[in-house]
Amino acid sequence: MNRPIKKIVLPVAGLGTRFLPATKAIPKEMLPVLDKPLIQYAVEEAVEAGIEEIILVTGRNKQVMEDHFDHAYELENILQEKGKGAAFDVARSMLQEEGRIVYVRQMRPLGLGHAIWCARHLVNGHPFAVALPDDLIKGKPGALKQMVNSYNELGGNMVATMDVAREDTSKYGVITPGSRDGKRIEVKGLVEKPHPADAPSTSAVVGRYILQPEVMDILSDTKAGAGGEIQLTDAMAKLIGKQPFHALEFEGRRFDCGSKLGWLQANLAMAAEDPHMAAGVKAMISSFK
Ligand code: UTP
Repeated sequence: MNRPIKKIVLPVAGLGTRFLPATKAIPKEMLPVLDKPLIQYAVEEAVEAGIEEIILVTGRNKQVMEDHFDHAYELENILQEKGKGAAFDVARSMLQEEGRIVYVRQMRPLGLGHAIWCARHLVNGHPFAVALPDDLIKGKPGALKQMVNSYNELGGNMVATMDVAREDTSKYGVITPGSRDGKRIEVKGLVEKPHPADAPSTSAVVGRYILQPEVMDILSDTKAGAGGEIQLTDAMAKLIGKQPFHALEFEGRRFDCGSKLGWLQANLAMAAEDPHMAAGVKAMISSFK
């Protein structure tokens, strides 16, 4: 029996330089897509996947995220007094069972691998999921649930992948694929941001992972890689051959909300599916020259 995935690490300590100046005083993960911040989409996806403990690795300006997942009594009282029941419900819709969300600080932004390592004592020897909230995935069920379902059969480690254009491989971690079973692909190798000419495939890793706790020991010894950061990809690559390692081609649409264009696409795609906004947004788009 594979040990169940009950914990997730959400790294939210990056600098978000591509979104400055918006991210100067607020974290990137608090940027909204329509009316909901990115971090809330990630927490909801995790809860849908049956995850019970949500570990946020925060950095500067963490307080606003803690506040987002807590009561706002003044707002709640005013909405109640004014009889605004629907708004009251929305204002509380992100509240989780007390103790479910925990926070740890990454004191220096040394990269994604380092951020995950900062959660090692909270992960405490259990297999765990990771989601990057700026990779917004619209899927039914959500990408994490799809992965947990596959993990329950396969065990080991897993990354979510999608096919990308060859010229884009240098933006992603890319797998060397082994045998395939439907949407599940055995991972034989992993390389971070390869030049298109050197990329072992066009199967790119997006921000959803299931990892065995041994990755924390590897991260302890991992030196800075591409971009001077401690790369999660380098640590994961060392697990290949020692533990089962699969990629899951998730079903759904992924938006890179860490980039302005991806964030805009996410907003437009969500608006186009919202019954109250669809007509307006489609008319707006067709009016563009
Ligand atoms: P990104 O690669 O998008 O980096 O991080 P970034 O710093 O957030 O954004 P840019 O590139 O400067 O615009 C991917 C994920 O890893 C987290 C980020 O918060 C994001 O969720 N991260 C990255 C950390 O938590 N710590 C780090 O040191 C780096």
